[in-house]
Amino acid sequence: MFRKKLPLPPGKYRMGGKHFKNDKAFIKTAVRDVRRLVKYCDLSEGSTLLDWGCGAGRLAVGVREDFGQIRDYHGVDIQPELIEWANENLAGDGFRFTCLDVSNERYNPDGSPDRTLAAEPGTVDVFYAYSVFSPMNDDDTPAYLTLIGEALSPRGKALVTCFVEEDVAGWEENPEGYGPLEWKGRLHCTRFSRRHFEDHVEAAGLAVDRFEYGRETDGQSLYVLRHR
Ligand SMILES: C[S@@+](CC[C@H](N)C(=O)[O-])C[C@H]1O[C@@H](n2cnc3c(N)ncnc32)[C@H](O)[C@@H]1O
Repeated sequence: MFRKKLPLPPGKYRMGGKHFKNDKAFIKTAVRDVRRLVKYCDLSEGSTLLDWGCGAGRLAVGVREDFGQIRDYHGVDIQPELIEWANENLAGDGFRFTCLDVSNERYNPDGSPDRTLAAEPGTVDVFYAYSVFSPMNDDDTPAYLTLIGEALSPRGKALVTCFVEEDVAGWEENPEGYGPLEWKGRLHCTRFSRRHFEDHVEAAGLAVDRFEYGRETDGQSLYVLRHR
């Protein structure tokens, strides 16, 4: 049976640090997130799901494990080797992956400045971006939030994580002494003030449906967003 032979990306292709290196933990976090998408964003087998910044397809592994099938899982990333692995090992009926050559100073500095989510407007029921705003500059962030608002279907919801704190600078790169790691290199940790991030959310025509402080990878917070 497919679920027993589930291929997992090799360690070097697993984004997100030590938390995802162990196979059991990798699958567990993926299934946990699928279940949260069900609970918070009404994910079902009939949904269209966009996994933005999908890496090598951690969430797809969770969808396969928990649902088996889905109408449309679309994983999008800017690192060709990760999407190549996902296409070879996880793509199939209802599961597809797209590599975009767009710029991010950490992961694809020479990419195009033309931002896209590779989604038709109004077509995404559930949008997922885990640890994607946590390496993102303060120009890309509001621009991508606007694209998320355009991509979501009328009752669509987005689950995203990022570093937010009260009473800090609006946006800061690799804040010293913050969090569990020593931040190294461009956009290793980008932290927003809660007010600043939520201003971007509002400017994108979105509203905060749920906020959970500090319980995600390395202390990120979780947002569920919907149309206003
Ligand atoms: C920390 S990893 C998280 C991977 C995955 N979401 C997970 O939780 O396992 C961040 C990912 O976002 C991707 N990324 C960064 N900027 C992006 C953009 N503009 N469009 C698509 N993917 C992006 C990176 O290539 C990287 O794979």
